Amino acid sequence: NRYFAIVPAAGSGSRMGAERPKQYLPLAGRPLIWHALATLCAVPEVERVVVVISAEDEWWVAHDWSCFDGRLQVLRAGGATRAETVRNALRELGDDLAPEDWVLVHDAARACLARHHVEVLLETLADDPVGGLLAQPVADTLKRSDETGRVQQTVSRESMWQAQTPQMFRAGLLIRALDEKPGVTDEAGAVEACGLAPKLVPADATNFKVTYPQDLALAELILHSRSF
Ligand code: CTP
Ligand code: MG
Repeated sequence: NRYFAIVPAAGSGSRMGAERPKQYLPLAGRPLIWHALATLCAVPEVERVVVVISAEDEWWVAHDWSCFDGRLQVLRAGGATRAETVRNALRELGDDLAPEDWVLVHDAARACLARHHVEVLLETLADDPVGGLLAQPVADTLKRSDETGRVQQTVSRESMWQAQTPQMFRAGLLIRALDEKPGVTDEAGAVEACGLAPKLVPADATNFKVTYPQDLALAELILHSRSF
């Protein structure tokens, strides 16, 4: 089994509302994206980590990435959506990827990904016919709203999960799924639309996606708590 990681990092971070894309905001002494790259590069099974930035990105070159020597590849291949960014990367990798190679797609914005998260994913899915994703069972009670912002219905949280990343599928299946179902928000969504059932691999809330300004302090706390 060969494993590749693809890290889409071509978003603009509109909900963060910062002066630069959130993946380049300072976090625990590094650019935010550094942390997920470091975790993925630290997993021996992962042969190559492919970062996908936008063609206009002016931030990547402002930092020193030499500590990831040899493991990291940068593609200026960002698309209009996350799915498009991932699809572009797969296209550019072309023959470097065999159909049976595993691809782990991980959001640059999930900065607190830990090695144990990746290891559990690899272990659980090693012989899986479909692939799957890290996810967390929903803890809160869920409400569906009407147009006026009043509760229309309480939705049972039983068997509800929040999808995280990495999402791990074989390259051949992932390419086919994203070609056939481009309008998805995650890779699993495309695979599901092809009639397959990705495996949910339980993770925890520390692997959250840094989205809003108030998420930065929490991410920093989690990262600092690990370095002891
Ligand atoms: N992403 C990408 N290409 C896009 C959009 C998003 O590579 N066209 C990446 C982001 O850089 C991020 C990941 O996909 O690492 C998850 O997306 P999200 O958290 O939504 O980031 P943004 O789209 O940048 O943020 P926002 O939606 O608030 O604008
Ligand atoms: Mg987005």
